[in-house]
Amino acid sequence: TCFTLTQDLCLVGLWLSLADPSVLRKMAVSGSNVSLKISEELFGNYKQLIWFYNTSQKIVEWEVLSPAVYYRSSLKDRLSLDPQSPAHLHISKVQKEDSSTYILRVSKESGKEQEWKITLQVFDPVPEPIIETEKAEEVNGSCYLTLSCVIQDQSVSYVWYGDSGAFPKELQKNVLEVTLNTQNQSRFYTCQVSNPVSSKNDTVYFIPPCTNPKCVWETWFTSLS
Ligand SMILES: *[C@@H]1O[C@H](CO)[C@@H](O)[C@H](O)[C@H]1NC(C)=O
Ligand SMILES: *[C@@H]1O[C@H](CO)[C@@H](O)[C@H](O)[C@H]1NC(C)=O
Ligand SMILES: *[C@@H]1O[C@H](CO)[C@@H](O)[C@H](O)[C@H]1NC(C)=O
Ligand SMILES: *[C@@H]1O[C@H](CO)[C@@H](O)[C@H](O)[C@H]1NC(C)=O
Ligand SMILES: *[C@@H]1O[C@H](CO)[C@@H](O)[C@H](O)[C@H]1NC(C)=O
Repeated sequence: TCFTLTQDLCLVGLWLSLADPSVLRKMAVSGSNVSLKISEELFGNYKQLIWFYNTSQKIVEWEVLSPAVYYRSSLKDRLSLDPQSPAHLHISKVQKEDSSTYILRVSKESGKEQEWKITLQVFDPVPEPIIETEKAEEVNGSCYLTLSCVIQDQSVSYVWYGDSGAFPKELQKNVLEVTLNTQNQSRFYTCQVSNPVSSKNDTVYFIPPCTNPKCVWETWFTSLS
């Protein structure tokens, strides 16, 4: 479904689909609490577990009958191993910088070592979009409409909706440019912005056939007073 996504998200999607299928994945919204869990059933009896933030940064070490050791890292004060299983790592108040491929290294009673990977992707919630009317012009009975969906963060996908549902996929980008006639105009236009963890929208209302919504609001307020 890359077509509705911006370049950045499309690359994330591509990267996820091409990546090693044995790596587990987790997405989270920043500020939330996350648990990275490897099922103990996958590896059986163990005597030591080490969690890494990446291939070089060790974050927690657990050994049978000893207290867990939390290493110095930007995560240190936000980490805890699950009391039920050291293969479940809790991270509180995740930040975008926590995004990484975490590694769990398991040392088994047999002396063998095995590694498991889990990729965490942290996204900020999308900001509120605002629709701006760039152009609403009636020419020869057709309405030329250009609406712009304005948002701070660019790594989002856009979906525009009207009366009869979502617009065709080729129109789905931050600026909606359409030509409308009396048959296919809509009373409202909604811009929905999304990233993999959140979604927000804004809506403008039009009085047909081609009225700038600002005029609509002004008319409305005047008639109320
Ligand atoms: C692992 O993360 C640490 C801390 O962010 C960083 O300094 C280091 O360069 C990273 N190592 C690799 C191999 O990416
Ligand atoms: C997140 O974890 C922290 C620390 O473990 C806890 O105090 C807080 O209540 C948790 N928040 C949520 C929303 O679960
Ligand atoms: C509007 O219609 C008239 C007559 O059919 C034509 O001459 C004119 O070019 C049209 N204007 C536009 C902007 O299409
Ligand atoms: C509305 O209908 C006109 C004429 O059939 C067409 O040119 C235009 O592309 C349609 N607009 C949309 C948004 O479907
Ligand atoms: C717009 O957001 C509201 C909540 O803020 C939600 O109820 C509604 O379904 C959303 N509409 C669309 C088209 O996404």
